[in-house]
Amino acid sequence: MKDILFATGNAGKMKEIREILEDLDGCVYSLKDAGIDADIEENGTTFAQNAKIKAEGIAAWCEKNGIPAFPEKSIRDFIVLADDSGLEVDWLNREPGVYSARYMGHDTSYREKNANIIGRLEGVPKEKRTARFVCAIAAVFPDGRCEIAEGAVEGYIGWEERGENGFGYDPIFYLYENDRSTAELSPEEKNGISHRGKALRKIKEVLRKGK
Ligand code: IMP
Repeated sequence: MKDILFATGNAGKMKEIREILEDLDGCVYSLKDAGIDADIEENGTTFAQNAKIKAEGIAAWCEKNGIPAFPEKSIRDFIVLADDSGLEVDWLNREPGVYSARYMGHDTSYREKNANIIGRLEGVPKEKRTARFVCAIAAVFPDGRCEIAEGAVEGYIGWEERGENGFGYDPIFYLYENDRSTAELSPEEKNGISHRGKALRKIKEVLRKGK
């Protein structure tokens, strides 16, 4: 199998990605490993569109500029993967959705973003606080084909932040099964049920079959 270039600079995500894809034949490199410093604008309206835009954007950037850390290789030696993810809150018409990272501005802390979402749900009963984390992963093959895999985890927005693990919206996203927030799960527990874990396991099957 070809080696994989995963279009993320996020070290936490890379760790999760490597753990789940470790039994594939090829190596998995991050943008940092490959020395790529490209900024692709994610202007799609769905997670799948954004993942595709990012993966195709990185492939096109490498086609033009080469791969700085591997000057002897071309992008056709790699399968390019990219993900896009976020939180959908049904009561808020699925906001923040594809704007999850940009919600209230990139520089606003998650303490403030989380407090804002809880505030917008004031007085809303548990059965109407439904939400989900969604992740789409796009794989662009050397011949230009693009395959997409999606994963989601259903839950609800709690009334307070809870837990120290995870990142972003984890402290306010609760699971129905045990009324724990995903910030209260260990990394292994979260990988087992998460949107990203599900999408990664699906794309792994696509890569294994080479289609
Ligand atoms: P991106 O996929 O790196 O663009 O990230 C999207 C944004 O969605 C993150 O910055 C977080 O705000 C949110 N998000 C995605 N996955 C998770 C998760 O597992 N926990 C908490 N927040 C998440």
